[in-house]
Amino acid sequence: MENTFTIQVNGRNESITTDPERPLLDVLREDLGLTGTKFGCGEGQCSACSVLVDGKRVRSCVTPIGKLAGKKILTIEGLSNGDSLHPVQEAFLSAAAFQCGYCTPGMIIRTVELLENKPNPTDEEILNWMESNLCRCCGYPKILEAIQSAAKATAKGDSQ
Ligand code: FES
Ligand code: FES
Repeated sequence: MENTFTIQVNGRNESITTDPERPLLDVLREDLGLTGTKFGCGEGQCSACSVLVDGKRVRSCVTPIGKLAGKKILTIEGLSNGDSLHPVQEAFLSAAAFQCGYCTPGMIIRTVELLENKPNPTDEEILNWMESNLCRCCGYPKILEAIQSAAKATAKGDSQ
């Protein structure tokens, strides 16, 4: 049976009428047209589908919309400010930290969460934090470089 839920997505209130068991990822991509969040494994294993819900990362492929009424959701599309990219997006671009790019939105969202919790992470802290985000292209060295550089930019206050 369908229900109606109000969620805030990237600062906009959205009213969604759907099956409460439907994954957030499907609602984002199919109902709201926010296709930046990617479907990887669909089983909660790869984190390609990561978004922030009230500031915490969730894997949207295994998160039913029915659990999110009233929550604030941030997707990759909500990070930039007009033409201005978020410092973490800039860092991934500068380091060319992607090949197919499929894991990139989830990596960036997870990095934003990391730097909000730990502005000056050590390499070990970065690796532990990012452990759940998989890159099938094995672009991990460049991803680490991008996160180190984003951390430096954020620490310098080089943010929007
Ligand atoms: S697509 Fe959600 S964890 Fe892989
Ligand atoms: S760049 Fe292809 S999966 Fe990471």
